[in-house]
Amino acid sequence: MGKILCIANQKGGVGKTTTAVNLSASLAAAEKKTLVIDIDPQANSCSGLGVDKDSVNENIYHVIIEQTPLNTIIMQPLPELPYLYLAPSNTDLIGAEVELVGALARETKLKIALEETVDSFDYILIDCPPSLGLLTVNSLTAAHGVIVPLQCEYFALEGLGQLLKTINIIKKSLNKELAIEGILLTMFDVRNNLSHQVFEEVSQHFPDRMFETVIPRNVRLSECSSFGKPIILYEIDSKGAKSYLDLAHEIIRGEK
Ligand SMILES: Nc1ncnc2c1ncn2[C@@H]1O[C@H](COP(=O)(O)OP(=O)(O)O)[C@@H](O)[C@H]1O
Ligand SMILES: [Mg+2]
Repeated sequence: MGKILCIANQKGGVGKTTTAVNLSASLAAAEKKTLVIDIDPQANSCSGLGVDKDSVNENIYHVIIEQTPLNTIIMQPLPELPYLYLAPSNTDLIGAEVELVGALARETKLKIALEETVDSFDYILIDCPPSLGLLTVNSLTAAHGVIVPLQCEYFALEGLGQLLKTINIIKKSLNKELAIEGILLTMFDVRNNLSHQVFEEVSQHFPDRMFETVIPRNVRLSECSSFGKPIILYEIDSKGAKSYLDLAHEIIRGEK
């Protein structure tokens, strides 16, 4: 059965999209059939995987709002990674947040859309927008687990309480299965004391919930997205590539 992991943090710029793009590519490289669902209107996962969001017709908006079957919008973005699939987003999605408000069963649109598709994949990663609005709520409701990226910076833990509260509410009401797959430290800089402080603080608060893998700050990771390539196709020898391959292994190991 496919495992659905939602990558969520209402803060922007913490590494959600970088994780969606590079973790999915690493899972696909390990021959795990992996689908990325881009549910952020900014469609950064699309561009990170080399897809021009304006070139796609039907996208996740149509799936959520018009009940277009999910499998009809799925594409294979990179010929080098035949196990990698993408359900694209588009700026259309900006409207979805508002259109959903009055909709019946508005929190379960994505969950229902995924029912027919989930078992065709080993992993499904959902790249969430930077908010706790209905698109993120749909993602949390559809998921088996949440990956929470935390940037090793000032105020890293700010907002985490609110996110955990939202996860708990959804667990109680809409999705009993929902688990915290792990907190992922991103942009860790060994030379920066602050990074070490954030590491200590998160280890103290969430000893059992942190991924062993820590993602370093690595300029190659920020460069590769402008080339529309995941890091393993851009610079396989970089620290960034190694860290996301390690994370993929950690997740695959956890299944056994
Ligand atoms: N480990 C990293 N090292 C260096 N730059 C990174 C790293 N992770 C993300 N970035 C850069 O930080 C910015 C924000 O990351 P992104 O993944 O888009 O965050 P989010 O999706 O949470 O808004 C992007 O410009 C990205 O290239
Ligand atoms: Mg993003």
